Amino acid sequence: MTNLGPRRAATGRSYLMCPPAHFAVTYAINPWMRPDQPADAGLAMLQWERLRTAYLGLGHEVRVIDPVPGLPDMVFAANGATVVGGTVLGARFRHPQRSAEAWAYLDWFRTNGWPEVRVPGYYNEGEGDILVAGQTLLAGYGFRSDQRAASELAAVFGMPVVSLRLVDPRFYHLDTALCVLDSATAMYYPAAFDDAGRAALGSVFPELIEAKDEDAEVLGLNAVSDGYHVVLAAQAAGLARQLCARGFAPVPVDMSELLKAGGGAKCCTLELRPARP
Ligand code: ARG
Repeated sequence: MTNLGPRRAATGRSYLMCPPAHFAVTYAINPWMRPDQPADAGLAMLQWERLRTAYLGLGHEVRVIDPVPGLPDMVFAANGATVVGGTVLGARFRHPQRSAEAWAYLDWFRTNGWPEVRVPGYYNEGEGDILVAGQTLLAGYGFRSDQRAASELAAVFGMPVVSLRLVDPRFYHLDTALCVLDSATAMYYPAAFDDAGRAALGSVFPELIEAKDEDAEVLGLNAVSDGYHVVLAAQAAGLARQLCARGFAPVPVDMSELLKAGGGAKCCTLELRPARP
């Protein structure tokens, strides 16, 4: 198929991931989680390994944090912190079941030599709710992160912050409803936002791809872009076709077991953005 859209370009990334060694659905803090329908722990590990291998195959670096027993959601590394320009803002979780994860991730950054590591004052569930679009931060709130985290983000990172209210409990973290593909392009699920949020997204991104219900409902938007390759749920076939038509290269992965906890590929991945040279 001839592509007449803009040329896309991949850039090498560094990611932090946490193996799902203690993963299980033992509590319900989002509508996807059903403790009476347990996940297959072995299959979850296989799917996670395949995700890690996919990143390595694309030429990206993957760092791994040790999983902590008793923290079944720690596999969702995106929630562990926000990392921009070498500065790290730790997370603060809304639900007590996850609160200890914040310290485990803070420890990892401190012991791995990140010089600027800050402890947050307000609830913020890391890059589950905070996304980077070029020189702008996007901050989701309404279910987990506190709206007031936006001013803290602006102060810590010295970047403008656009707040986005999330309105659908199935899309409780921003990264379940919006994926930044590059600084000018995003894909999103319009119904997960209010009018003000949709308008704000229209002014941040010159190019927006709208996900259909069936692709959003398999968390197809919980995807990881390197500027060209987009790692996303294999079940989101329509979204993959839309990406191809826009000049991106979809890389399908099956995250069925992690989906039982309300997470996908992006939730399992925290991008480590180094200081600018
Ligand atoms: N069970 C986890 C929770 O409800 C899933 C987290 C998904 N992470 C994400 N970045 N959206 O908190």
